Amino acid sequence: MRPQVRPFRDADATGLAAWLDPLAPAEEVYSPAFLVHQRRRLPASRRPLWVVAVLDREPVGLGRDEPQIFGGRPGVRRTWVGVRPDLRRRGIGSRLWQEIEAHARAMGGLTLRSWAVSNEPEGERFLLARGFRRIERGLQSWIDPTSIDAGDLERATAEATARGFRVTTLRELLPQAEPALRRLFLDADTHAPHHNAAARPVAASTFRRMILENPLLDRDCSTVVLHGDELVALSWLKGDRQLGRYGVEFTGTAPHWRGRGLATLAKLSALHLAGRAGVRWVGTANDENNAPMLAVNRRLGSRPLADLMMYKRGGS
Ligand SMILES: CC(C)(COP(=O)(O)OP(=O)(O)OC[C@H]1O[C@@H](n2cnc3c(N)ncnc32)[C@H](O)[C@@H]1OP(=O)(O)O)[C@@H](O)C(=O)NCCC(=O)NCCS
Repeated sequence: MRPQVRPFRDADATGLAAWLDPLAPAEEVYSPAFLVHQRRRLPASRRPLWVVAVLDREPVGLGRDEPQIFGGRPGVRRTWVGVRPDLRRRGIGSRLWQEIEAHARAMGGLTLRSWAVSNEPEGERFLLARGFRRIERGLQSWIDPTSIDAGDLERATAEATARGFRVTTLRELLPQAEPALRRLFLDADTHAPHHNAAARPVAASTFRRMILENPLLDRDCSTVVLHGDELVALSWLKGDRQLGRYGVEFTGTAPHWRGRGLATLAKLSALHLAGRAGVRWVGTANDENNAPMLAVNRRLGSRPLADLMMYKRGGS
């Protein structure tokens, strides 16, 4: 079995999405449009590479070597390979890995990061056999947004309104508030567990390309909480309405506004809008040490999924 290995083309996305989607972290929907966006959004200057293994003109494997954008430092690359389940253990993954590892090294990758979902144990085995170690565990869960209690949302909204807060959508605030939205998002992200203090800042153009220009980001269901003119919390959702499946892009509260129920309010509001739009599944992943976010999810009635494990090779 000698698949051809060549760079990814947009036309591969449909064939890849058909088997890649079950391997996705719970917050991603690997639709063809999203895969094309994921590849195109990577800054060319940082030399990303996606390669595809092709057999009988079908894309049966994918290898990725990318810069780490959020929380990235010079010398850190994100690497991943996946093979269609019926064609595993025939050397395709190793062949893709050779290509990806060599590229990551040539790009100055001293520390490689990767990930696997725990219900695909072959992923972990593959990584451990290649010198990676497990470094973090994300707890994944999902919720049917129509299951949230409308009374909870009403109460949370009434209390927040009485304290001078209001909830709106991302669509209402863009494009004028883009700089403030970016600051809130990145500020909340910087104060999340495992954020690296030495991480390089994310440029405005990168943020726009990575997050705001994602064709799956739902501007009508993604919410923002304001206090007066100040943006204080957000919960953004992305996904595929036709599939009825969404994931959480990010939920966060500005550091000095935490502990007031604002993330819960933002997420409840976003889920309510998603439920009304026909979405029946919203997935999320949170670091196992992120107690406040896990508490929010528990309170909303989220149901557990397989863990999302993070791995690292090299570096400190
Ligand atoms: C991890 C993954 C990419 C491996 O793909 P694969 O095509 O099965 O990979 P290979 O066939 O090259 O190698 C897998 C193992 O099978 C072994 N193998 C290869 N051919 C074999 C054969 N004919 N019989 C038995 N074992 C075989 C390899 O030696 C390798 O063992 P090792 O990891 O201990 O070195 C695949 O399981 C997958 O897609 N998993 C889900 C995605 C994922 O979690 N990726 C995370 C890792 S980046």
